[in-house]
Amino acid sequence: MFGNGSSRREVLAGSAAMFSLAAWAGASAGRSQDAAKPPALERRRFGKTDMQVAVLGFGGAEIGYEGADQPTVDKLLNAALDAGLNVIDTAECYVDSELKIGSAVGARRKDFYLFTKCGHTSEPPKEGPDWTKAGVLQSIERSLKRLKTDVIDLVQLHSCSLEELKKGECIEGLLEAKKQGKTRYVGYSGDSLAAKWAIESGKFDALQTSINVCDQECIELTLPLAKEKGLGVIAKRPIANAVWRYDARPSNDYHVEYWERLQELAYDFATGPLRTDSSPNGAAGIAMRFTAMQPGVSVLIVGTTKPERWAQNAELLRAGPLAGELHDSIRARWKAASKPDWTGRT
Ligand SMILES: NC(=O)c1ccc[n+]([C@@H]2O[C@H](COP(=O)([O-])OP(=O)(O)OC[C@H]3O[C@@H](n4cnc5c(N)ncnc54)[C@H](OP(=O)(O)O)[C@@H]3O)[C@@H](O)[C@H]2O)c1
Repeated sequence: MFGNGSSRREVLAGSAAMFSLAAWAGASAGRSQDAAKPPALERRRFGKTDMQVAVLGFGGAEIGYEGADQPTVDKLLNAALDAGLNVIDTAECYVDSELKIGSAVGARRKDFYLFTKCGHTSEPPKEGPDWTKAGVLQSIERSLKRLKTDVIDLVQLHSCSLEELKKGECIEGLLEAKKQGKTRYVGYSGDSLAAKWAIESGKFDALQTSINVCDQECIELTLPLAKEKGLGVIAKRPIANAVWRYDARPSNDYHVEYWERLQELAYDFATGPLRTDSSPNGAAGIAMRFTAMQPGVSVLIVGTTKPERWAQNAELLRAGPLAGELHDSIRARWKAASKPDWTGRT
């Protein structure tokens, strides 16, 4: 889809054709079987792995941190799988996210690819990071139990530092788990120079990194390299935490940095009536379509606690890539306004 050496125009034309073809094919299939059924979500190859992932996936942090109750998570995850999503991403330290996922869809394990992250524990009395080989192996064992499965599709090191990566013990633990058949593939979840080092090390099958309209460092720093080396790429924070929804500085600390960046970026689509426009040309649609069209991106894991979001977000992505001029204006604005410390947010 995004061949090396293609010009931006060719890339956009090619991807637009693919999106519309996928939508057309899905719509045709839907018409013959069930007039009310929405077109299928686009699937993409996940790097050099055997996985074909739907472009929209499930980010599991919110259900843990926001304390979604089990009936809501049951509804949320089953709605997501029914909408055609086939990636669920979580982490041991997202409070009880793994337990909730295991309970909600453990019985549908064959319907999705399960990604988690290791290296932390939320279990007292040892809460916090542990990047030793034994610590990583124990973290993965706990995840298997909580997720009610024998094997995870992808386990990622959860944003350890460049120094920890260079020390190598955490990587040894991860590769040992792969050798033991506890995980089929291994990845690094993180940003900036640590992500670059991880790709160059040749040890990982996948990279999870922040990619969105407020976080574009990776577009030149790591995405081309990840594509060249054949890593599957998961876009985390893909809708920039939807920070345009806040009229004033958010009380949620996690959203503050992107909100501050957005004030300076002052994109047209995030300032006027488009902030609340729920069409593909509103703020949410433009932000997700921007992330989805970055070369090498396989899947966007959007976080939510709302069961109705999956159908809405799938519909936004079905609109396909942004027009070239709009995409290029978002890149140009970023290049003009971004500061040296606007590095990838973990
Ligand atoms: N270091 C790491 O490894 C790391 C760090 C951060 C995130 N992650 C992963 O990435 C996933 C996603 O990150 P994230 O949740 O921080 O960021 P995100 O997906 O960019 O933002 C999620 C927020 O966007 C809102 N939203 C979703 N769809 C929307 C729509 N159509 N219109 C308006 N608002 C919408 C959600 O609110 P509603 O509840 O209203 O839908 C939610 O508050 C996480 O779950 C986690 O799996 C990993």
